[in-house]
Amino acid sequence: MRPRSVSSGYVSVLAVVLLGACTTSSSGGPAAALPPGSTAGEDSGASDAGVSEAATYAWQLPPGFPAPRVPEDNPMTAAKVELGRRLFYDTRLSENGTYSCATCHLQALAFTEGKGRAVGSTGQVHPRGSMSLANVAYAATLTWGHPFLDSLERQAQLPMFGDTPVELGLRSQAELEQRLREIPEYAPWFAEAFPGEAPSLLAIERAIASFERSLISGRAPFDRWLVAGEDGAISESAKRGYALFNTETFECYHCHGGFAFTDHVVYADEAFPQTLFHNTGLYNVDGQGSFPAPNTGVESVTGNPADMGRFKAPTLRNIEVTAPYMHDGSIATLSEVLDHYAAGGRTIAAGEGAGVGSANPLKSNFVRGFRMTEAERVDLLAFLTSLTDVEFLTSPEHSDPWQ
Ligand code: HEC
Ligand code: HEC
Repeated sequence: MRPRSVSSGYVSVLAVVLLGACTTSSSGGPAAALPPGSTAGEDSGASDAGVSEAATYAWQLPPGFPAPRVPEDNPMTAAKVELGRRLFYDTRLSENGTYSCATCHLQALAFTEGKGRAVGSTGQVHPRGSMSLANVAYAATLTWGHPFLDSLERQAQLPMFGDTPVELGLRSQAELEQRLREIPEYAPWFAEAFPGEAPSLLAIERAIASFERSLISGRAPFDRWLVAGEDGAISESAKRGYALFNTETFECYHCHGGFAFTDHVVYADEAFPQTLFHNTGLYNVDGQGSFPAPNTGVESVTGNPADMGRFKAPTLRNIEVTAPYMHDGSIATLSEVLDHYAAGGRTIAAGEGAGVGSANPLKSNFVRGFRMTEAERVDLLAFLTSLTDVEFLTSPEHSDPWQ
């Protein structure tokens, strides 16, 4: 069974993807444009992506994925990705030598941490949970609710040097650069990735960002069904769940649609990155729509009261392995996430965060609540778990190179 609303690939954001592809000089274009059932098994590589900066790097893009946007001053190369991988997994990037990026971003958990709130290298608790890095190359902005942070290179500085809260706890750029210059095994890696340059913070950021852009996930059983046309790749229950996901009753696809299963995407040659943020009625602590501080979402950056509780819709790819859920890990299971949407916003009866989320005056019109039968719940969960991309979670090229 193929859902009525889906005839030629990922819905919703895909429409924009195809539009974008039409305006490029690309000869290939996203493979999801192929009619269902056609053999879309070939990877759309960089050669037909039409972007010169990708030329030195062989993207292994899944069918249906557009070419990622790459900054002109940091073109992708295999050498940078490899160096970035070493840095990402290196605990010498923390002041006390105990933490690396990978401490909070574990491959087996789609580069999340499995904790509701992250804990930094000095034991400080972060107000929010670490986020999946699957397809972060396509993220229009970064972190849970920051409308202006749109560069992976710049973002990398936050965990390194940030002190509210401390993550890697580095104190000095000069010390970090000196430390890496003194590690002999790094010399050839830097030389290959940045010929003629001494190891610098800028090079570190660029290499880490390149590694992050290589973290592409799009080969789940769901993709084998939808794009490659492998009918038996997912269960009939999962197919029904995907159809429900795309209905005007359940509304999920509005915010979690498209190849990345989030509406918050950008890609090469796209004029208008989508930087949408939504209040899902997760809290309502004062009856006027407030979320508990400091997790007020975009409001904490802009100071605009209308931005209260607005967060980026996270990707649903690999969602099975990224519990607990929401920006603060306050929902333990996927089934309970469905209860939150079915109720049109969560009610917390007493204690911390108490309030009636469904009455949040600032919540999105797409979170209105719905009646969900137990069979529909089972179907939606089957669909969500069909997005688990085992190859991504286990592939050696994303794993710890120091092991
Ligand atoms: C202490 C745990 C911790 C460490 C160490 C850490 N992160 Fe994170 N990461 C987080 C948390 C928490 C968030 C969400 C931040 C927020 O919303 O304020 C996050 C968010 C991100 C995001 C945004 C993802 C998205 O989809 O928007 C990126 C990218 C990222 N981290 C990369 C890195 C890199 C690169 C390093 C190493 C230099 C690193 N992180 C180290 C916890 C950590
Ligand atoms: C109005 C936009 C919107 C709609 C509609 C929507 N979501 Fe979400 N979703 C979000 C946002 C924003 C978050 C993060 C909210 C937060 O942390 O406060 C989220 C979080 C989630 C999470 C947790 C992700 C994680 O990494 O923690 C899941 C699972 C999820 N949504 C599934 C669904 C399903 C299933 C539906 C349909 C029943 C749905 N969503 C409808 C915007 C939306």
